[in-house]
Amino acid sequence: MKSPHTSLEGKHLPVMIDEVLKVCNPKKGEIFMDCTFGGGGYSRELLKFKETKVVALDRDTYVTKLAEKLKDKFKTRFIFHNKKFSQLDFVTKIKFDAVIFDLGLSSIQLDDLSRGFSFKSKKELDMSMGQTDLSAKKVLNSYSSKDLKDIIKNFGEEEEASKISNNIVKERSKKPINTTDELVKIIKNSKKKNYKNKIDESTKTFQAIRMFVNKEITELIDGIIKATKILKPGGKLVIVTFHSIEDKIVKFYFKNFSKNHSRSNKYLPENNENLCLFDNYKNKIITATSREVKINPRSRSAKLRVAIRSSDEFVDPIKLRNRFKYLTDLEKRIA
Ligand SMILES: C[S@@+](CC[C@H](N)C(=O)[O-])C[C@H]1O[C@@H](n2cnc3c(N)ncnc32)[C@H](O)[C@@H]1O
Repeated sequence: MKSPHTSLEGKHLPVMIDEVLKVCNPKKGEIFMDCTFGGGGYSRELLKFKETKVVALDRDTYVTKLAEKLKDKFKTRFIFHNKKFSQLDFVTKIKFDAVIFDLGLSSIQLDDLSRGFSFKSKKELDMSMGQTDLSAKKVLNSYSSKDLKDIIKNFGEEEEASKISNNIVKERSKKPINTTDELVKIIKNSKKKNYKNKIDESTKTFQAIRMFVNKEITELIDGIIKATKILKPGGKLVIVTFHSIEDKIVKFYFKNFSKNHSRSNKYLPENNENLCLFDNYKNKIITATSREVKINPRSRSAKLRVAIRSSDEFVDPIKLRNRFKYLTDLEKRIA
């Protein structure tokens, strides 16, 4: 993929940055992992604190130039890796004071119409965030009607998934579906008009296809498990989610593997029932202020959750993987 020529700085407004900084509470010399570099908003703010260090990741090569600028400025205090959450085990020696995820797409990705994330685009249906062999075009033109229905229903929570997937298969038998506006037209023709609905009728299907193309649930689950492993005892796992599937996964993880919720029977075998990866968890959600929502509408659906790593030894939380296996198995389907 070609790099865009325009400057990316300032193209993405960091969501809930004040709240993220408040929960991270950066102190002199502390070290942070920013798993979703994007426009660099979080990394830049964390580096403003004295002698802090930031290791940042992003799967998208488009942000590399921006990361290099930060590297020039902060030299030994900042490092960027063009990697995915699922590759977090490349970190073997460092333990972090906080690991931060700000999930989903950046405005840089959404606003670049050539990448096909936006239903306002008329460009080719790509939707890759980077480092995936799939494209939306390939999924829409080669997956069965049943697979498409499962994807749209499970990842988009779209009630009319069946009608939409049938119509995708019908239309592609006449000619391949190549562009975002072609998909938008199929969705519009498939759905019943609902004038009360505030969100665009294409939102859920676009979200579902994007999640499938990028294997977002596998990435999230693998990422938060590997992030737990590289936290110091007392370190914070900070996650900003943007839709209910992501939030459900994070909530399940924090609740079921915290001291106050897991079954702490010391006579039980060392299995996932009594695994306490986190200290007491209050199930508290932090949301954006109405002021921020006015300035940055993207923050409207953001939910921030934080869990604190306990001093217990790390054991893989199999119960989390099993609970959402139906989604990770769906992401493994091939046409
Ligand atoms: C919402 S943006 C982050 C914005 C950033 N916090 C800021 O303030 O500028 C999310 C970023 O995470 C990246 N991303 C999403 N899933 C990823 C994954 N599995 N591995 C690595 N990066 C990922 C996306 O490419 C995108 O650039």
